Amino acid sequence: MARFSAFLIVVSLAIPVAARAQSPMPSVRPVVVQGAMQIEIEKLASRLDRATVERVGGWTFWRGTLDGYPVIVSKTLKGVSNAAAATVIAVERYHPIAIINQGTAGGHDPRLHLYDIVLGTSAVNLGAFKSPYRPAGAGSNTLDWTPLDLMAADGSAANDPNARKLSSFKGHESLLAAARGVTSLYTRGRIVEGTIGSSDVWNDEVDRVARLHAQYGTEVEEMETASAAQIAGLLDVPFLGIRVVSDNITNGGAYDPKTSEACEDFVYQVVKAYISKLKR
Ligand code: 5AD
Repeated sequence: MARFSAFLIVVSLAIPVAARAQSPMPSVRPVVVQGAMQIEIEKLASRLDRATVERVGGWTFWRGTLDGYPVIVSKTLKGVSNAAAATVIAVERYHPIAIINQGTAGGHDPRLHLYDIVLGTSAVNLGAFKSPYRPAGAGSNTLDWTPLDLMAADGSAANDPNARKLSSFKGHESLLAAARGVTSLYTRGRIVEGTIGSSDVWNDEVDRVARLHAQYGTEVEEMETASAAQIAGLLDVPFLGIRVVSDNITNGGAYDPKTSEACEDFVYQVVKAYISKLKR
């Protein structure tokens, strides 16, 4: 009997500790805001009320509230693999009601200038292509490559015309509506809507950038949005990419890391607007 009650005490002590270590899921589904680099999330994270930090492997999450609503800022790290993994972790652990991926990007349209912001009505995977055959010594030309839709139905071969397009992921209307509602608060540049292209490549070849822009309609390129959008889509979580032009090789816009803070300021307003609709 003594041994049994000792067992009960051990169990009752152990459960809360284990539960705390797991950090219980918030009862209200949070909004997750992602950024790849420290400079892209620092300002947002500092604006959370009562923030706590959680680390999962190499990924960091700041959990807090904004206007009393739970918001999680996620540092995804750079590139498509890191962004995909961060998105899975966020959805599995926090069950977000929506995900916004935001940060810097390179302009593909010469009319876009530093500090302009693109609301991603869609995001495309610029990292999946098939090259035509070239024999040894014939060199390489990326302008000859055709896209591959990695989301095409199973069994679609690379030669299947159905797979010969870029995977494309739409921005969610509810998030776009929130963003559109606060555009007048942004004074650092223009806000446009369009396609965000993502891959692990930083393209500074002007002909290639022009081709991507003309053929696939990309307004900007970066390394995370389409990847996070793909995962959010498969896990059924509303998603939007919001990117500020930090550089533009097509018109001489030299990289300005400070643009990331302007993006965070705008996204802060978008999140507040989105939250205010959820609370109604
Ligand atoms: N091309 C690719 N990625 C860019 N980034 C900013 N500008 C560009 C660009 N022109 C972002 C990516 C990545 C980091 C290298 O900067 O999203 O996180």
